[in-house]
Amino acid sequence: MKKDSLKLVVIGGGSSYTPELIEGVIKRHKTLPIKDLWLVDVEEGSPKLETIGNLARRMVSKSGVGLKIHTTLDREAALKDADFVTTQIRVGRLEGRILDERIPLSYGMIGQETNGAGGLFLGLRTIPVILEIAKEMETLCPEAWLVNFSNPAGMVTEALLRYSNNRKVIGLCNVPIGMTMAIAKVLGVEPSRVRMDQAGLNHMVFGLKTYLDGKDISERVIRIMAESGDGISMNNIPPIKWAPEFIRALGTIPCPYLRYYVKKDEMFKELASEFSRGETRAEVVKGYETELFKQYADPELAIKPPELEKRGGAYYSEAACDLIDSIHNDRRDIQTVNTRNRGAIVDLPYESAVEVSSVITREGPMPLSMGELPLPVKGIVQQIKTFERLSAQAAATGDYDTALLALTMNPLSGSDIVCKSVFDEMLKAHRALLPAFLRNHTEKK
Ligand code: G6P
Repeated sequence: MKKDSLKLVVIGGGSSYTPELIEGVIKRHKTLPIKDLWLVDVEEGSPKLETIGNLARRMVSKSGVGLKIHTTLDREAALKDADFVTTQIRVGRLEGRILDERIPLSYGMIGQETNGAGGLFLGLRTIPVILEIAKEMETLCPEAWLVNFSNPAGMVTEALLRYSNNRKVIGLCNVPIGMTMAIAKVLGVEPSRVRMDQAGLNHMVFGLKTYLDGKDISERVIRIMAESGDGISMNNIPPIKWAPEFIRALGTIPCPYLRYYVKKDEMFKELASEFSRGETRAEVVKGYETELFKQYADPELAIKPPELEKRGGAYYSEAACDLIDSIHNDRRDIQTVNTRNRGAIVDLPYESAVEVSSVITREGPMPLSMGELPLPVKGIVQQIKTFERLSAQAAATGDYDTALLALTMNPLSGSDIVCKSVFDEMLKAHRALLPAFLRNHTEKK
């Protein structure tokens, strides 16, 4: 029977993105009866958690909806009898992200939070924590859904599917919804009239077909994209133009992250210049966060401030709330999520996490059959999946050689020898958050 009172637990509740989620929950209160919202964080995130908790309470009180906000550092107490758990943690905080971006760049490799060496190290820090949360959920709230946005979301979902017993797991990203919104904007129509068949991996997803009011307009959309060369852009990715011939011949809509691979040289040049100015994305975001938290602390503020839109995570709460709403209400609508492939994309392993258009039911996402990926992108998608699988395995086992192999096989990496230098420097820089790893490495020597 459908419950009329839900408990939502947000782990990493002190994130600067949380006000967007609160706004989404308030907006849907008529159909999604979340009555208790628990914001959880770790000790060092405590001041931010309190600021966010107080802002959330002001937002709720202004809206007049019946929603109780709880803040706590006691994760287990929060998880007890939850219906939905979202994880939006950043292990190592923004300081860790700065290292993830800067160290690879100093060796001539692209430094980015979810791709290449940066993505690997974020995964190595994050996956053990998420696996621990999944384990706690087995006893504290075995029926709850775990919706993960923590990056690298694809790698984290892969790890959850392979190394935890929790079967009610979904990975979520704002890129797919962002792509649909961007196309609607270019066409000048309401987003609800546009639907896109999406398939691939997190941050390596493609719009295979686009429909407007049910009519296949894929060719028209590709033509428009090719002519402008702008493609889909996001605040966190340098918007370097595409060659029109490339987009035309590709015949599918790439997500903005493909730029790191296809435009590796231009992107490296751009990132290296940000590096030398001390303005890598993480450093810029740190500045935004300081400003945002100043605003959040203002007792007069009771809305999500528009400055939050400078971040790359636009529409993330739309995606999250739509997903939770559709599971609770068994809406059976189509959303793009990270879920077990189960044959939906024939070029990828049956058991692996893929990002794919799925029907969202109360039993979870049912991935739609997408058949084969287009030839030009099949290879890179498979290679990134290999990177994700090796990285997830390394994170779950703490095995040094597997982790180094994952890095070496990533298309953004340099030679095996350079990879070892980058890897060792990153391991040293993050050692406090990778104890199992260092222990295994020392034992092997
Ligand atoms: C995009 C990605 C997210 C990522 C965000 C970073 O939206 O899809 O996975 O977290 O950008 O944005 P930021 O403002 O932190 O650079």
